[in-house]
Amino acid sequence: MPLLPMGPMLRHARANRYGIAAYNMIDFNSARAIIDGATALDAPMIVQVSVKTVKHWGAKHVATWVRMLANDAPVPVALHLDHCTDVDVIRRCIDAGWTSVMFDGSALPFAENLATSQQVYALTEAAGIGLEAEIGAIGGVEDDKVVNDDQSRLANFDECVAFVRDMPNLAVFAPAIGTAHGFYKGEAKIAYDLLDRITQTISIPIALHGGTGLTEEQFHRCIALGCGKVNISTMHKSLFIDGFINLRAEKPKMAEPLPFIDAQHAAMKADVMQCIRIFGSDGRAQAALAA
Ligand code: 13P
Repeated sequence: MPLLPMGPMLRHARANRYGIAAYNMIDFNSARAIIDGATALDAPMIVQVSVKTVKHWGAKHVATWVRMLANDAPVPVALHLDHCTDVDVIRRCIDAGWTSVMFDGSALPFAENLATSQQVYALTEAAGIGLEAEIGAIGGVEDDKVVNDDQSRLANFDECVAFVRDMPNLAVFAPAIGTAHGFYKGEAKIAYDLLDRITQTISIPIALHGGTGLTEEQFHRCIALGCGKVNISTMHKSLFIDGFINLRAEKPKMAEPLPFIDAQHAAMKADVMQCIRIFGSDGRAQAALAA
């Protein structure tokens, strides 16, 4: 089916207390593994792309690959731009057919983040696609964005309320709640009270960033409290590499490249399927589509 905006499916997810996986693709094979995993379990899926990856391949080529794979898939798929600070890149993705984008103004002072998020909101509303916006500062490393422990900052509740007030159609809202990008050094300290307070007041689905390394219990608690979008990047990127090198270690003399592509695909798809089951989005494709 054609690429779809993620807003309606995320609202369905939040209302029905499951999470839609949002995986950061790397190339065609990784996008194929993500969409094949969703198809195998009849789950809605968000294929998201880090800015460096967009710049590496070009927005048009990425959109063409994902559109082609989504067209052949029986499940709803959204194509989303992850953590983008540059409005020009956002425009390029919109022009290339992205169905949602994230503006990340979290490094800006609140008023500036709000003003630019509102400008991008006007662009996405005009294009009929979804917007994700962030406040607070999510820790860890995502792409070129490095937020050290001493720089990470939970979202301020009053700012959350003020932030979303004039953007009622925001597809998903990303307040920093204590999770971090990359592999965790210890157990993530999630501010469940803050998340609960936010979702009691704000009905927009919440994005759970920093999914790699969270426990099943943490996923379940966050999803139960209103996180409709669950982001996984580091684990997927790591399996992308391991899929190749593990087979290389096993069969150092093999010269045929296609088994490597298959091994990589199998490793990534297995993880996608495991997360879909944990997030409870298996079997939800048709209901999410109808939403
Ligand atoms: P991880 O890299 O920790 O999986 O986080 C993904 C993410 O939140 C992308 O925005």
